Amino acid sequence: MSTFSVLSVASEVFPFVKTGGLADVVAALPPALAREGVTVHTLVPGYPAVIDALIDATTVHRYADLHGGPARVLSSRTAGLELFVLDAPHLFGRPGNPYIGPDGKDWPDNALRFAALGLVGADLGRGAVAGYSPDVVHAHDWQAGLAPAFLHYGEGRRPGTVMTVHNLSFQGQFPKTLLGAIGLPPHAFSVDGAEYYGMIGYLKAGIALADRITTVSPTYAAEIRSLEHGMGMDGLLRERANVLSGILNGIDDVTWNPATDTLLPFRFDARRRKARAANKDALQARLGLAQDPDALVFGVVSRLTWQKGMDLLIDALPLLQAHGAQLALLGSGDAKIEQGFVAAAQAYRGRVGVEIGYDESLAHLMQAGTDALLVPSRFEPCGLTQLCALRYGAIPVVARVGGLADTVIDANEMALAANTGTGVVFAPASLDALGAAIERTVALWRDRALWRRLQGRAMATDVSWARPAARFAELYRALATSRDA
Ligand code: ADP
Ligand code: GLC
Repeated sequence: MSTFSVLSVASEVFPFVKTGGLADVVAALPPALAREGVTVHTLVPGYPAVIDALIDATTVHRYADLHGGPARVLSSRTAGLELFVLDAPHLFGRPGNPYIGPDGKDWPDNALRFAALGLVGADLGRGAVAGYSPDVVHAHDWQAGLAPAFLHYGEGRRPGTVMTVHNLSFQGQFPKTLLGAIGLPPHAFSVDGAEYYGMIGYLKAGIALADRITTVSPTYAAEIRSLEHGMGMDGLLRERANVLSGILNGIDDVTWNPATDTLLPFRFDARRRKARAANKDALQARLGLAQDPDALVFGVVSRLTWQKGMDLLIDALPLLQAHGAQLALLGSGDAKIEQGFVAAAQAYRGRVGVEIGYDESLAHLMQAGTDALLVPSRFEPCGLTQLCALRYGAIPVVARVGGLADTVIDANEMALAANTGTGVVFAPASLDALGAAIERTVALWRDRALWRRLQGRAMATDVSWARPAARFAELYRALATSRDA
């Protein structure tokens, strides 16, 4: 197998900076692709959390002035990744959330910050660093969406380009007056370029101009071509359907392995599951839940937003209570939803346990100690928490949308009779359907032998990156071949 070189461009990467699943994907795909003969370098912004973590960084490229200040590209192998880091203190030297300032609003210069990321991605793609010339530049989400655009409108070497949409609801739109400042030529502002309803659209530009578009599940790839889920981009996505594909995410099976997970008080695997009960006990204690091994504990690890259907879950709590179940929730997000859960924890003391915030080790304990994981999303491009749940033996109870529909097999009566099914899948994402799904889960839980078999099948599901990485490798190679032809 000949080696193949890909530059991945993204605005977050685990374990340095993470606001969602994007960071997990950007970190986990490179080692999986290495096994397919694909070498990945990853370009990320030099936020303080990234710069501080770098090991033996060397400067490989410099800019005298990159959108308002000097900048350089550092190269370092850190945390198993080949990183290029855009060290531009005037743009990225700010701690905390990568997109939002201390006032809770988007940084006012986000247009320039992520134009810089796209521009540098394009420059590296064109061979700005001696001895480095990737075959493909792979841009993730709107923050990297201008990389394919700069390659399209620029001169010189032009590697293949791939745009991956992790979430179509974040599109990166900015006033057209910024076109010159971000470095795009006037003719880029056109319907087949970066123009989007009178604005500059970063994701739109990437979708319009990349050679290939992927998204993170086959069902989402189909959904986003519809008016209902296309968020204004459905027309363009239908037009480009011949280069659009859905490749499911996996999870990092080293970070997420219940047999070796150092964040867990008690480790276990599919054959020896007894320690799940000890984790459940620890979780109940941690969240102030009644320490009852027989209570069915539903878990949530999520951003608390409309996308995730968290308002529906608040409304479903009386029903969950009526069935004697408990809820363990870890998340943060919309203030109103946060308050709703905090109030519920007070109203249902010992039955609803809530931790508002972000906590990596509690997220692992939730997967290991809950009996079922609720993901009632209204839309979900892929979703990673249900994959972790499968691996850890928490039965996923999910809405039938996007990647949730593609990764969980509904344990309906026929499935159970045929010895299949790995979770509970419901539709639509409404209070009634969620309520019915909770009732079905309670009924399954009552038959412990059946539940154990269900859990065994869930834990046997292949949620690794092996298959998806093979598909990406195939896509990259086919793209390169088509460009050579
Ligand atoms: P999204 O990217 O839409 O938020 P995903 O399911 O793809 O959803 O990814 C979410 C990731 O963030 C998972 O790795 C999940 O474990 C993690 N996560 C979400 N909320 C929290 C939290 N409050 N604390 C710790 N990890 C969290
Ligand atoms: C986005 C989506 C989520 C997906 C993640 C990683 O944040 O909301 O469904 O799993 O990206 O691709």
